Amino acid sequence: MNELVYRAEDLYGRIRNCQACSLAQTRTHAVPGEGPLDAEVLCIGEGPGMQEDKQGRPFVGAAGQFLNELLGAAGFKREEVYICNVLKCRPPGNRDPLPAEIDACRDYLDSQIEMIDPLVIVTLGRFSLSKFFPQAKISRVHGQSREIGGRMLVPMYHPAAALHQQSLRETIVEDFRRLPSIIEQARALRTESTEHGEPVAQEASARQIPLFE
Ligand code: URA
Repeated sequence: MNELVYRAEDLYGRIRNCQACSLAQTRTHAVPGEGPLDAEVLCIGEGPGMQEDKQGRPFVGAAGQFLNELLGAAGFKREEVYICNVLKCRPPGNRDPLPAEIDACRDYLDSQIEMIDPLVIVTLGRFSLSKFFPQAKISRVHGQSREIGGRMLVPMYHPAAALHQQSLRETIVEDFRRLPSIIEQARALRTESTEHGEPVAQEASARQIPLFE
């Protein structure tokens, strides 16, 4: 665990000092992410908003409040899950991330996934979903888990999108309530692959991708 803490601190330091794209000039704080380094669940959002940029922490504004409620509905405390974003710096005016910005941040997110090695990845919104399944439509695949690289991935609507739209709100709460059983599936998957001596947590296996796209 000490080695993990060292690794996380090194990664967070690099993110806070990152100058890889022009968002470095407009950010107040970079937002590396937070949560236990041995978390079973990793939530990936889009990018920091105004509150996150001010505080340097992910999901601390209105969408974050709602995310906390959603996690609660699934039986989790926020402190039990790891939360980060595709982008580590706020796009001005909360515009959509640009492809070059996503590319510039890619290694940071990949390092976080490798470091946390979660049982379940929850993607929040279309930008984090498209990291894993570029062609998938969130409206078609939300709430449906898929095995990917020895763990389960479950796409959810972004809490900000669901916050003000009653029909989406009910849907996202229902989707989050499936999380405990998805974690059970992921545990079984890991036990199985360990027993068969298969390496866990590799890149997506090609046979699963078409099922989702
Ligand atoms: N929306 C996101 O995608 N991430 C945050 O951290 C906050 C709002």
